[in-house]
Amino acid sequence: MSRRPIIAGNWKMHNLMQDAIDLTNGVMAGLKEYNKEDLPTVIIAPTFTSLYAANKALTDCGCGKVRLGAQNCYFEPKGAFTGEVTVEMLKDTGCEYVIIGHSERRQYFSETDEMINKKAKAILAGGLLPIICCGETLEQREAGVTDSHIASQIRKALDGLSTEDVAKSVIAYEPIWAIGTGKTCDADEANRVIAMIRNTVREMFGSAADQIRILYGGSVKPETIEEQMSKSDIDGALVGGASLKADSFVKIVTGAMAVRA
Ligand code: 13P
Repeated sequence: MSRRPIIAGNWKMHNLMQDAIDLTNGVMAGLKEYNKEDLPTVIIAPTFTSLYAANKALTDCGCGKVRLGAQNCYFEPKGAFTGEVTVEMLKDTGCEYVIIGHSERRQYFSETDEMINKKAKAILAGGLLPIICCGETLEQREAGVTDSHIASQIRKALDGLSTEDVAKSVIAYEPIWAIGTGKTCDADEANRVIAMIRNTVREMFGSAADQIRILYGGSVKPETIEEQMSKSDIDGALVGGASLKADSFVKIVTGAMAVRA
């Protein structure tokens, strides 16, 4: 079964509003010559404060080649939760995807598997799609607990979801030691872990495992994407640093497209 690849740019805490508009326009300009049907699903995830502006740039262009995502949300629908943002608010700004459980949120903001599960349910109930991140630290890898740790993260994140919702969701495997370090995980090893994740999804939800898209993230660059996309289970990439420049992000998108064409 062929799954449409996804290339998603996580801009993290970068870019003021005008930078976000310029980058959004730069990405669209770089994709101009390609047919929408040939491209992977392309997602950009700016900070909350630039979502409205990025969405306006996307809709003004009208090419429909780039989707909007957010980097986080809260699971409650409204209320006294100072500083938090609901799924409905994200939908209101044009978001279709929400990244949850990024290792930076787990590490610096104490996000737990239980919270990530609640967020996944709220996102799907609100008609958006979660990009659920998982990954091991270097210590866990060296201790030989990578697979058990990640399988546990996935089981907890997906607990109680419906098979239909899991089939349309997205997972991103991001080994923490490969994030922002320039040290990409070996493509065969990334593929092995991603196949293990798919197998975990299969044990829980059967054939939804053939539809869910599982991305690799961690120092993805234009030079690495073709080998990564040539692997059986890697359905795309969640890109940090290299998504902050239109030309490198576009090269990653077109590199992925060339492999899957
Ligand atoms: P880098 O591509 O900068 O390593 O970041 C990966 C990441 O964390 C994407 O969510």
